Amino acid sequence: MGKVIVFIAASLDGFIARKDDDISWLDAFSASGEDYGFGKFIQSAGTAVMGAGTYEQSLAHPERLLKGLKNYILTSRSLPRVPGMNTEFWHDSLPALVGKIRQESERDIYLVGGGQVISRFLYEGLVDEVHLFLVPVILGEGIPLFTGLSREISLQLVGTLPYPAGIVRLQYVPEPSPSKR
Ligand SMILES: NC(=O)c1ccc[n+]([C@@H]2O[C@H](COP(=O)([O-])OP(=O)(O)OC[C@H]3O[C@@H](n4cnc5c(N)ncnc54)[C@H](OP(=O)(O)O)[C@@H]3O)[C@@H](O)[C@H]2O)c1
Repeated sequence: MGKVIVFIAASLDGFIARKDDDISWLDAFSASGEDYGFGKFIQSAGTAVMGAGTYEQSLAHPERLLKGLKNYILTSRSLPRVPGMNTEFWHDSLPALVGKIRQESERDIYLVGGGQVISRFLYEGLVDEVHLFLVPVILGEGIPLFTGLSREISLQLVGTLPYPAGIVRLQYVPEPSPSKR
């Protein structure tokens, strides 16, 4: 059964983008050619799930489109499709979405972001692994990695990996939500 995996970079103060959606502060860290394990990770994934905010940024920056995967976009709006991409729009329950994807594919599910969607999946107890790349930059303000959570979520740290550029990979497994204990 495919795992739901978050694989995301955040500033030291917990932001995934500047307020205007700018993520160019990440560019300096990929300039060395280090891919932070992304290539290997993406090979295990069959489906990407993302919120409308992240999808709209991918439309504006087509190099970010995940063309090799089936993409599910969470939205209540009618958004444009990219020709040649396998994209579905979803506005129903998240457990139902995960169940549907698991029927379609045995591969892992890449929960791309952004913060609103990741937080909602965590809240619903649907995330199997979190791979957080903590970037040594303090943005001061921006789009938060975690937002709108009305309960505490505990995670178990299962791995750490420092990179020469100063990024640290933190790998977590969320504890079961209270309703599932
Ligand atoms: N640093 C990184 O590695 C990284 C990774 C991914 C994303 N990002 C950045 O994150 C930013 C977007 O993050 P975000 O938190 O603002 O937005 P988001 O989570 O990408 O999208 C939120 C939107 O998704 C829709 N949605 C539908 N169902 C939902 C549900 N059940 N729960 C939550 N949202 C649902 C809503 O849009 P509708 O109004 O259409 O319904 C909501 O406004 C972008 O700037 C992107 O570039 C950074």
